[in-house]
Amino acid sequence: MRKSRRAAALVLPLGLYARGFSAGWAWDWWRSMGSPRWVCSPMVDQSERAFRLLCRRYGVHLAYTPMLHAEPFASDEAYRRSFFDAWEPAQLDGQQDADRPLIAQLGGDDPKTLLRAARLLEPHVDAVDLNFGCPTEDARRGGHATHSPRCRRYGAYLLRDPRLVARLVSTLSSGLRRVPVTAKMRLLRDRSATLELAGAIEQAGAAALCIHGRTLEQRPKYAKSRKEDLAPDWDAIAEIRKVLNIPVIANGGIETRQDAVRCQELTGCAAVMSAEALLESPDLFAEERMEEPAIPRLLRLSREFLDLAQAFPCALKYPPTKSHLFKLLHRLLGEDQAEARRAQAAGQSLTPKMLWQLKIITADFFREATRAEAGAHGVPGA
Ligand SMILES: Cc1cc2nc3c(=O)[nH]c(=O)nc-3n(C[C@H](O)[C@H](O)[C@H](O)COP(=O)(O)O)c2cc1C
Repeated sequence: MRKSRRAAALVLPLGLYARGFSAGWAWDWWRSMGSPRWVCSPMVDQSERAFRLLCRRYGVHLAYTPMLHAEPFASDEAYRRSFFDAWEPAQLDGQQDADRPLIAQLGGDDPKTLLRAARLLEPHVDAVDLNFGCPTEDARRGGHATHSPRCRRYGAYLLRDPRLVARLVSTLSSGLRRVPVTAKMRLLRDRSATLELAGAIEQAGAAALCIHGRTLEQRPKYAKSRKEDLAPDWDAIAEIRKVLNIPVIANGGIETRQDAVRCQELTGCAAVMSAEALLESPDLFAEERMEEPAIPRLLRLSREFLDLAQAFPCALKYPPTKSHLFKLLHRLLGEDQAEARRAQAAGQSLTPKMLWQLKIITADFFREATRAEAGAHGVPGA
């Protein structure tokens, strides 16, 4: 199975995608994971184990770790220990490993370093993903110098160098022994260049490709009107899916289960991924949402998340426990909740709304979140 994939990666020239390219091995791997349909995206500081487990409880079939920087991951045990959280299986609700299937995502631009990092990950995951989607300034510069002193860039900025992209994928494809490599990319401004690049990634040996249906320029920072300028292009994803033979995951703008179903129908993709909306509604993929009013539902999800965060503490220096609670509860708190905290700290008189906001913020689980964050260190790692 792996042999034919490597042969194909060597024989087909970069820049030509081939219809009929045999990708049976990729579908075998996909089926070995139970043919996942709903996916929790990689999210720095947000897709840690407790959050993944909460999403899985409500319909997510496949989840990604947050992006890990390849350089420190390959060389620094302390970085590995705090940033990767799946060294051990997650035993939960009678399941031996409730946190699988899992894809670990790496960012970087050096093939050898990425391969070293990926080899450390492969015993613990179902695939190693390469990040060709991140549009941030950090990605343009290669991240903080303390994290990645030699990394020049990662994420979507690598897409400007298709040969390098193909080389990174093929290095992992031929160098990994247990699991395949996958990739996550954004759209390029030019449709045919996007198709060509997606085809090159397939030919270089990727087992699956996730397409975020926005370009590098479609970022909140540049958007004049959030809705129109940031709208993902599902038609472009459909077009790419049609020319690829490996499983394709559609990503961008999935806010409800109805969106997910519609996106899958329109694109014909094997799976659909959500990010931002999952942070507010970790149950968005759930088939039957309980008939439950918004406030009890969000409080219940927050409670469940906190229990998971206590059972599976995050080893980051600044764990995202409270940040998750704020995202889960922000509709109850309102965007002006920081104002309530400031007014309280300044001893100013508080409106009834502010009092309600402060009541939620100081509810028991926020205090528990502080304890969970404080107690997270010293957790066994690698
Ligand atoms: C908080 C946050 C962190 C993210 N971190 C990553 C990451 O580590 N790797 C990655 O490929 N994409 C990352 N993304 C992008 C998402 O995976 C996804 O591609 C993007 O948000 C579009 O999906 P959406 O419209 O459902 O939010 C992140 C997004 C968010 C909101």
